[in-house]
Amino acid sequence: MAKKNSTSADLDALLRDPADPDEAAALVTALIDEIRKHDVAYHQKDAPSIADADYDKLKRRLQTLERDYPETLREDSPSLAVGAAPAQGFRKVRHARPMLSLNNAFSDEDVADFAQSVRSFLKEFKDDPERKLDFIAEAKIDGLSCSLTYENGELVLAATRGDGLEGEDVTANARHVADIPQKLKGKGWPAKLEVRGEVYMEHAAFFALNERRAEAGLPLFVNPRNTAAGSLRQLDPNETKNRPVRFFGYALGETSEPIADTQHGIREKLHKWGLELNEPSKVTSDLGELLEFYREIGERRASLPYDIDGVVYKVDRLDLQRRLGDVQRAPRWAVAHKFPAERATTVLEKIDIQVGRTGALTPVAHLTPVNVGGVMVARATLHNADEIERKDIREGDTVIVQRAGDVIPQVVEVVLEKRPKGSKPYAFPTICPCKLKAPTHREEGEAVTRCTGELACPFQQVERLRHFASRDALDIEGLGDTTVRQFFEEGFLKLPADIFRLKHKRDAIIALHGWKDVSVDKLLAAIEARRGAPLDRFLTALGIRYVGETNARKLALHYGDYPTWRQAMADALADDSEARKELEGVFVADSKTAKGVVAKELIAFFEEPHNVQALDDVANEVKPSPVERPATDSPVAGKTVVFTGTLEKMTRPEAKARAEQLGAKVAGSVSKKTDYVVAGAEAGSKLKAATELGVAVLSEDEWLTLIGDG
Ligand code: IVH
Repeated sequence: MAKKNSTSADLDALLRDPADPDEAAALVTALIDEIRKHDVAYHQKDAPSIADADYDKLKRRLQTLERDYPETLREDSPSLAVGAAPAQGFRKVRHARPMLSLNNAFSDEDVADFAQSVRSFLKEFKDDPERKLDFIAEAKIDGLSCSLTYENGELVLAATRGDGLEGEDVTANARHVADIPQKLKGKGWPAKLEVRGEVYMEHAAFFALNERRAEAGLPLFVNPRNTAAGSLRQLDPNETKNRPVRFFGYALGETSEPIADTQHGIREKLHKWGLELNEPSKVTSDLGELLEFYREIGERRASLPYDIDGVVYKVDRLDLQRRLGDVQRAPRWAVAHKFPAERATTVLEKIDIQVGRTGALTPVAHLTPVNVGGVMVARATLHNADEIERKDIREGDTVIVQRAGDVIPQVVEVVLEKRPKGSKPYAFPTICPCKLKAPTHREEGEAVTRCTGELACPFQQVERLRHFASRDALDIEGLGDTTVRQFFEEGFLKLPADIFRLKHKRDAIIALHGWKDVSVDKLLAAIEARRGAPLDRFLTALGIRYVGETNARKLALHYGDYPTWRQAMADALADDSEARKELEGVFVADSKTAKGVVAKELIAFFEEPHNVQALDDVANEVKPSPVERPATDSPVAGKTVVFTGTLEKMTRPEAKARAEQLGAKVAGSVSKKTDYVVAGAEAGSKLKAATELGVAVLSEDEWLTLIGDG
């Protein structure tokens, strides 16, 4: 890199020694931003904006800070992948079918529950406990998922998973991965074949790469997984050559014609066509054998040439996989049985209290940073007051922490022999740490302690705003935790609707530390772009208890658009109203939450005038858009169906899932708005109600014929 235009004063500021961990964290962020800026200039615009030596200084500085303050190490840090592509370096590709993730099982019981839930979804297996249902077990390699599309046997596209719906086009890099055939071997492949699999790096390659980097004075990579990810997302495909990543196939995406009837059949075909598989695998209907496979591979884990983090069990028959479908971004037909959590010992320096958006006080342990299975851990959740008391966790204790998969690190136990003299049991605060100093309150029989400040508690206000803008909710790019807090403290934000009025504060924001007109305009544009956000996201963003992604989606699909939902909620306030029954019906087949709980929370929300005011205010700004219903061309799209009585061919959950897949609403009670009542054997009051209201009644077979499954 040549030329420079960042002044040495800027550089000095970035290279200064931080006074405390907070400043270190701020510096790391500033350094990352600066390095990214120069990376873009160099890689994408071919216009270097800094002298090579200065660029190296920035990088080295970032690396030392990350070493001295390990809690500042971010997964997206440029020191983990030198020259890593800024996201905009790759073309985005929309996946033909979403790339899902997997639900986790942590114990034998969890696996048994999974197998049982599959059986109870499928009528013929539920009714006949002796009927054999094959599963296939495969190792779960810890890498990153990738999709390969072949047209007439030629590789035409390689894409990362991204957010599951949209990934990045990394074809140029995939052409340098030896395990990825450019052309399929043999014959008989379908005209279009999408193979899904995992990109990973073997230990030997990882160590060799780090050795070369150490010699060259370059920052070292943290673990093989991050390295594989960084390597695939290299902007310079030639660099990928120096980073030997591998690939195995584990599933199919969109394919022009079926290639097999079973998962093991898919494996055989993929192997024949030249793709690597994750060996070994086992097909069996015996749960004991699945668990034995898990234990055997667990014992060999340390001697394998790559990292595995568990075993995946999948229903082997593909027709059953299709019937089982997905819930919430994970298939019903598979589960990941994770290996036991990695553990480490460290000192618990301090217990801090965090106040969530519902006012729940969560104790958080601040730890002397420690490496747990390749990840630096500086904080762990302590859950609640009971948990601290049960484990008698005290400040200053030496503790064992564990991290299981994507789960937040936990404190497992205290090493009592190392307890400092004179330590005292932890006293859970009776006063909220917020400015209001409101008393805390714990409801009889509940584990959670809450701040009684309710809507006036500043912590809760900030948390609600953060939640509103967050990725799973309204997803406003650039309005992250720090910014929300900063704007809140400045008095720019109090309620969600204020976000959409920030444009009137443009000058005041520019005057704040850390903001420039370009960054403010970018943020304001991102906010504007979220007007008209889909109804389900909007409902999630409200942060009503129990109304997370799943239930928000149920509401959105059921009521269709915002005004209908808003009116229905107002009507549902009356105790015996139709609207109340309808609302309760939306959550009928929800097995996890007690009956009526979600509806009760929604009603409680609408009974509080402050909530209603804040809601109307923000809805007026956002104007949520109706949700897209799946499969609108089906004959039952948009229709409301009630299932009643005993069905012969499907279980109730399967019937409901299938109807919803076809865009129908499934309600729990019959009303004038019901289009069809599907009556099985021994249908009772609902069938009667249907006849009285003149609603069409179908037998199970008539329903199946109507939807084309007959
Ligand atoms: S099957 C619908 N099989 O684990 C998704 N996934 O934690 C089907 N993974 O996203 C996935 N080894 O990237 C499957 N043998 C295996 C796997 C595997 C690793 C990854 C995959 C998935 C993630 C979920």
